[in-house]
Amino acid sequence: MKTVRIGIIGGGLMGREMASAFARWCALKDLPVQPVLTAVADVNPAVLEWFRALPGVALTTTDYHEMLRSPEVDVVYVAVPHHLHERVYCDVLAAGKDLFAEKPFGINLAAAEAIFEATLKSGAFVRCSSEFPYFPGAQRVFKAVGAGGMGRLLEIRSGFHHSSDLDPTKVANWKRFSGICGEVGVLGDLGMHTLHVPLRLGWVPRTVYAQLQKGYAERPDGKGGMAECDTWDNAMLHTWVESGGEDVPMRLEMKRMAPGATNSWFIEVLGTEGGMSYSTAEPKTLKTFRRKGGEQVWETVSLGFEMPFPAITGGIFEPGFPDIMQQMWAAYLMEREGLLGERFGCVTPEEAVASHRVFAAALESQRDGRVVAVK
Ligand SMILES: NC(=O)c1ccc[n+]([C@@H]2O[C@H](COP(=O)([O-])OP(=O)(O)OC[C@H]3O[C@@H](n4cnc5c(N)ncnc54)[C@H](O)[C@@H]3O)[C@@H](O)[C@H]2O)c1
Repeated sequence: MKTVRIGIIGGGLMGREMASAFARWCALKDLPVQPVLTAVADVNPAVLEWFRALPGVALTTTDYHEMLRSPEVDVVYVAVPHHLHERVYCDVLAAGKDLFAEKPFGINLAAAEAIFEATLKSGAFVRCSSEFPYFPGAQRVFKAVGAGGMGRLLEIRSGFHHSSDLDPTKVANWKRFSGICGEVGVLGDLGMHTLHVPLRLGWVPRTVYAQLQKGYAERPDGKGGMAECDTWDNAMLHTWVESGGEDVPMRLEMKRMAPGATNSWFIEVLGTEGGMSYSTAEPKTLKTFRRKGGEQVWETVSLGFEMPFPAITGGIFEPGFPDIMQQMWAAYLMEREGLLGERFGCVTPEEAVASHRVFAAALESQRDGRVVAVK
């Protein structure tokens, strides 16, 4: 078993989630590589307390440069607010470390391109986070499309809905401010999740017509006052992609105000002969469509723990968010070792830049109220 020493920059929501994925690595079977968390950097000393209790964490620091100087770190995972992505990612690469980046891979297209250039210059192994394709239902959709048999594709829908912004009393965090989250707002927050599988299937949007909506203009600031919130909260991107020599409409839906939804990632692909629909709102249920004789049939399959990387968990049990995070890390580490094989890989730097090109076109479309070509 080869160990890979991981450093985390940004120990908030995602930093802790990843640490927990490493801590239960024994759940994975027969994997020749194991991550060991050795160092954590966060500007907030209180955040570091939680990590100090974890075995193996030898360095905790409020200055991430100290971590980057450490020879005890091979790979750095960075989970900081979007306005810091470019600087921190480029510093990681300049320090000669491999990088597991968080989405959206820079606050805007220019930042993503700068990170991409730094990646090429460094020769480091760089991938970006997107965990939902590791759900068994998502894998089934990906494989079914690749195998063909759906006939002429009629429609593709890929989306991510949650509703945490519906509550007007929720305190504003950095994701509600364009200066920190990015002018792209919800596109940067949820867009990579909706584009990872389509881009990997070769469905690169050629044109975009965007409908973007803002949320509440102000929210409590957590200090007794109100804060102005200016980011886009909901986005519907109507795009054209090419598949099998035909133009196919693909709708990308990213919503932070979707009534009733809690982190529901979904993908639906419909063709003349067959189709599939999967949503993490019903994580075990895969819906399949086929034409059989003269009839049109929708069927449901109850999925179990059918993961790309086998685990000790029994095959009938249901997977959840912590499991797909761990699967994503397994994919990152195995690809880094050249051992990914046919399994689904994490977002590449090229795909991350491609997603930003779609977001930039979407902003232009919203501003001008017209269809915009993705450059
Ligand atoms: N893959 C996913 O499902 C998913 C989910 C949520 C967030 N994210 C992404 O993860 C990243 C972080 O989001 P989050 O929700 O964890 O944010 P968060 O606010 O919970 O955590 C960010 C942490 O970064 C720290 N930080 C800020 N500046 C720093 C600096 N200069 N050096 C070191 N630490 C610093 C903060 O103190 C905080 O602890 C974002 O890019 C976000 O888009 C991904």
